[in-house]
Amino acid sequence: MKVTTIGSGYVGLVTGACLAHIGHEVTGVDIDEAKIARLQTGKIPIFEPGLEDLIAVNMADGRLTFSADVAEGVRSADIIFITVGTPSDENGGADMRYVKVVAKTIAGSLDRYKIIVNKSTVPVGSTILVAKVIQENLSDPREFDVISNPEFLREGSAVEDFMHPDRIVVGTDSQRAAGLMAELYRPLNAPLVITDAASAEMIKYASNCFLATKVSFINAIANICDAVGADVKEVALGMGYDKRIGFEFLRAGPGFGGSCFPKDSRAMIYIAKEHGYDFELLRGVMDINANQKRLIAKKANSLLDGIYNARIGVFGLAFKPNTDDMRDAPALDVIPGVAKRGRTILAYDPVAAANAKELLPEQVQYVDDPFEAVRDADLLLVLTEWDEFRWLDWRRIKDLMKNAVVYDTRNCLDPQNLRRLGFVYQGVGR
Ligand SMILES: NC(=O)c1ccc[n+]([C@@H]2O[C@H](COP(=O)([O-])OP(=O)(O)OC[C@H]3O[C@@H](n4cnc5c(N)ncnc54)[C@H](O)[C@@H]3O)[C@@H](O)[C@H]2O)c1
Repeated sequence: MKVTTIGSGYVGLVTGACLAHIGHEVTGVDIDEAKIARLQTGKIPIFEPGLEDLIAVNMADGRLTFSADVAEGVRSADIIFITVGTPSDENGGADMRYVKVVAKTIAGSLDRYKIIVNKSTVPVGSTILVAKVIQENLSDPREFDVISNPEFLREGSAVEDFMHPDRIVVGTDSQRAAGLMAELYRPLNAPLVITDAASAEMIKYASNCFLATKVSFINAIANICDAVGADVKEVALGMGYDKRIGFEFLRAGPGFGGSCFPKDSRAMIYIAKEHGYDFELLRGVMDINANQKRLIAKKANSLLDGIYNARIGVFGLAFKPNTDDMRDAPALDVIPGVAKRGRTILAYDPVAAANAKELLPEQVQYVDDPFEAVRDADLLLVLTEWDEFRWLDWRRIKDLMKNAVVYDTRNCLDPQNLRRLGFVYQGVGR
């Protein structure tokens, strides 16, 4: 089938590359001409494992092309995916500006029946909204269906997630559209949940908000563990064996971040409020999350008590491993919380430093060798659980540091091993 993705960011690129890989003919478009020019030469603007190769293979096989001509992208496709950003607006709701612009553009070039797919995370009612914007901007009557098909991929494992989804959700009351979407995704052999558009839109928000709730829950438990002398990792393990609870998303740390959980939780609170419901539980989840970052910074400062002009080494900046995405990363709150005058901060992240530079205080210096980050340091702050950190030569790190104190805010290192080497180890909730 002929597919166009409008918006070539994390979701657009992965969706386009994966659909091409399962045999469809895909055009990825974007208004950012520089981005498209780079993509046309095979360079991808983000770090996402496996994506560059997948794009290269499918471009070479002629199934995937990129273009800055959005109108032509609309004309050439049977199915058009809207994959533009929906950031928070000033009230916490989803800013639908980019989606509306795309809907207008689609109306301008709609020449025959097409399916327009809301893949961006959009509030309940957006399927109707996009259909309305298209209808109002059509010059001649045309047949089309707007449907909801939220995306559940995780940055860092996006290709794998897209190719092996737990489920595919399609929200529409059009049998024709549902049938074509089932055909589009058939090679993935995944459970298909076909429902109404409002429920599909809600499934996405409810899923993200539930996961955010799990993270704040375990962080709250971690803080109590700290006070009572329990180990949150043991607690999470013991809880996780219960099938009703499960092991996933019970990792205590500096709070959730990224481009989805904070934004989608804010949007859910706003949607509820707009409809007269105070989502107290989710407000609590957000408060715990904001407080967790403050608690982490406070603890880090207490580990530096009495040290004049301290040097801090930082391992990891991205909101999670295997991505360069800095949107709402905990580092953006924790680092400013420890960046006191006179202190030196040396940060290392395998891929996110370039994005972090634009967002963190000027005081932060970036190094491309983890051992440089810890030279003469009084504290090492681990903010992202990149796998490579576990395999470093920790004996060498101990020798390089002035005070061998590690604050492992992701509980990703082995405390026993580090203590044996002579480190003072501080985790979260243990
Ligand atoms: N990033 C994730 O992990 C993830 C996962 C699931 C769902 N989502 C949702 O998917 C959506 C996209 O997220 P993202 O992270 O890919 O965003 P992104 O910011 O990485 O990409 C958005 C792209 O859209 C382009 N764009 C904006 N306006 C345009 C227009 N009028 N015409 C053409 N292109 C335009 C931008 O230039 C940009 O390249 C959001 O709603 C997000 O909530 C994201």
